[in-house]
Amino acid sequence: MELTKYEEDMYNGEYGEGKAECMEILVSLGKIYDAEKMIPITSAQVSGVSYKTIGDAGLDFVVDLGKKADVTLETMLNPAGVDIENWEELGFSEEFTKKQIDIIKGYESIGVMSTCTCTPYLIGNTPMLNDHVSWSESSAVCYVNSVIGARTNREGGPSALLAAIVGRTPYYGNHILENRVADMIFDVSYDFNNEAEIGALGYYVGQIVNDKKPYFKLTSNPGRNNLKLLGAALASSGAVSQYHVEGITPEAEFARNHDSFDELETIDIDENIIKDTISKLSTTDKIPDLVCLGCPHASITEIQKVAQLVKGKKLVKDLWICTSKAIKAISQQCGYLDIIEQAGGKIVSDTCMVVAPIEELDYEVIGVNSAKAANYVPNMCKLDVVYDTVENLIDMISE
Ligand code: F3S
Repeated sequence: MELTKYEEDMYNGEYGEGKAECMEILVSLGKIYDAEKMIPITSAQVSGVSYKTIGDAGLDFVVDLGKKADVTLETMLNPAGVDIENWEELGFSEEFTKKQIDIIKGYESIGVMSTCTCTPYLIGNTPMLNDHVSWSESSAVCYVNSVIGARTNREGGPSALLAAIVGRTPYYGNHILENRVADMIFDVSYDFNNEAEIGALGYYVGQIVNDKKPYFKLTSNPGRNNLKLLGAALASSGAVSQYHVEGITPEAEFARNHDSFDELETIDIDENIIKDTISKLSTTDKIPDLVCLGCPHASITEIQKVAQLVKGKKLVKDLWICTSKAIKAISQQCGYLDIIEQAGGKIVSDTCMVVAPIEELDYEVIGVNSAKAANYVPNMCKLDVVYDTVENLIDMISE
């Protein structure tokens, strides 16, 4: 692999042992994928934060790395396993929380921003079109490639962190413009009415394309919140890292003008497929004992909508809206937090229904409006899910 003088010096230890180790691993990774060079990156997003998923080995990795090197650019952290401020009120154990705090402190000590969110693009980590970045949470990867048009591979937490330390990533996959064209066309005749339908579309298509790039022809603009849910679903039932929506996402025209576009297979999606997928995403028809929204982490407009829906109501079951601390603070400033809390709901920050040890709490059925959450909760948390719209879920748990 061709390295610049600076990269070679890092590799040879001129800038310290930590950077040399990072370069060695990244160069080896690049060789596996036939990368001809390294490319500078402008930001990183690091997953592998929850103690539930990385355990003591992950904690040791972060602590060891922290003794040798710091990140050199804007790097944000994925959700952790608990709400750091309200863990006790939510029922999480002290032992788990202590381990979680150690992991977060480890990341902070090397300069990572402890934002603990999978929607860093909603709170300031917003790359520009064509920027090269190194992000690792799958829904964030899908969003940044598709909706923003910055370029990242679907990194693992460690490779994103190493890239953040040396400011470089191997140049292969999604970093190369020619690899960002569409692989399959989905002609969607169905007019979407809600987020559960768009999530079902993503879930269905992800199963078909796996890691390929779908190109959607939709009848209307789904908006940013629904594009977030679409990408999360595509990345969970498949391994999609980028999609295009005709007339909406920034590289759709490039994808359409590519030589191979007219030869692509086209699959028609109709109402039956969507309804059938929605029904398969629920594992029970019981009433949820917890409705958990915000997968990916909620935007301020999604929280505003929930506040409007619960205003003046009394919730008879638990309601959590997962988001970042930053969006929670804005919710408080706008008065939404008060409205939601008066109804009996909570805005939960730093974590989510999948990476938190929610299975240790007293819940059996979780209501979600995210196809990604519906896909993961039964497997990762061993709980039943009800998949529906936010309106219907709140109706189910309101007096
Ligand atoms: Fe984010 Fe957790 Fe969903 S990390 S995308 S809220 S599973």
